[in-house]
Amino acid sequence: MKILLTGTSGQLGRSLVKTLQDVAELITPQRAELDLSDSASIAPYIQQCQPDLIINPAAYTAVDLAESESELAYRVNGEAPRILAREAKHLGIGLIHFSTDYVFDGKKSDANGENTPYTEDDACAPLNIYGASKLAGEKAIVDSGCSHLIFRTSWVYSDFGKNFLLTILRLAKEKTELNIVHDQWGTPSSTLFLSDVVKQILLQLQQAQSASVWWQAHQGIYHLTPEGFTNWCEFSQHIVAHAAQLGLLNTALPKIQGIPSSAYPTPAQRPKNSCLDKNKLRQEFGIDIQNWDRALQSCLQAMASARLSDTAR
Ligand SMILES: NC(=O)c1ccc[n+]([C@@H]2O[C@H](COP(=O)([O-])OP(=O)(O)OC[C@H]3O[C@@H](n4cnc5c(N)ncnc54)[C@H](OP(=O)(O)O)[C@@H]3O)[C@@H](O)[C@H]2O)c1
Repeated sequence: MKILLTGTSGQLGRSLVKTLQDVAELITPQRAELDLSDSASIAPYIQQCQPDLIINPAAYTAVDLAESESELAYRVNGEAPRILAREAKHLGIGLIHFSTDYVFDGKKSDANGENTPYTEDDACAPLNIYGASKLAGEKAIVDSGCSHLIFRTSWVYSDFGKNFLLTILRLAKEKTELNIVHDQWGTPSSTLFLSDVVKQILLQLQQAQSASVWWQAHQGIYHLTPEGFTNWCEFSQHIVAHAAQLGLLNTALPKIQGIPSSAYPTPAQRPKNSCLDKNKLRQEFGIDIQNWDRALQSCLQAMASARLSDTAR
């Protein structure tokens, strides 16, 4: 199977390369070869490489900057997926795409005001341009009629790139005290976990007797994160505690305290409740979903092992 995989210089794209390279032939264009903001260049590139499947983790992900660069955010997150989907439909191939918890407004709660997780059927109401542009991409894919899987994920991190985990590890070495938002709830998603689930689903597709029957049965939008929920403050406390245990932090540990979002204003508003219900994913694909803290430990363990082998060289 020949897969066109975008965004391989990003966190998730890079992880997908490592995880999928043994099970498929990967075409991994860098931005210079396939610029998703250059709408006219996308279809000719796809027609030239003739993939059997497209996986699109590439996106405009600068959530705050998107407020002042909305045209570019919509082009990469809305228009490019529309063209990828149109070409997938034209070639009769599938498209696996990634979206975000930020399509929701974060106000879902029960009668007691407690957060309740969003299902795939809940109404979307993005609070910021990034979320709205990602929602535009989702709608374009669904409307195209191509075979598709759209995975909405949240709070993505890895041992590479720009993410909360690496920011906290850096700050923990520099500061004695950290003030972290404690009123936004959701689930941190390691790219190792996300890539592993994508691989399991890809293997199911490869083993299917008929790919078109498989797509008919399974296509749609799915929520994909590890199990369990936390807030940014608690997440950072777990990062620091595990990292210290694994020898990734050797300085005195900082004191971490919670602050409300109102004390940390950002250009883009974020949802308070980003919790996603994963029952559909579990039922459709029979996948065992790891807890977020376990996934965090696996990522930090991999970082600690990589550091050990670097020092041994
Ligand atoms: N990060 C999160 O917390 C989060 C949360 C929820 C959902 N998601 C979704 O998960 C997916 C993966 O996110 P991520 O964190 O791995 O993203 P990332 O690390 O920011 O990587 C984004 C990738 O997209 C590429 N890209 C951006 N603009 C492009 C363009 N015009 N043409 C071609 N490539 C372009 C980047 O290439 P360059 O290196 O050339 O810029 C990079 O490879 C995205 O769909 C994102 O919306 C992320």
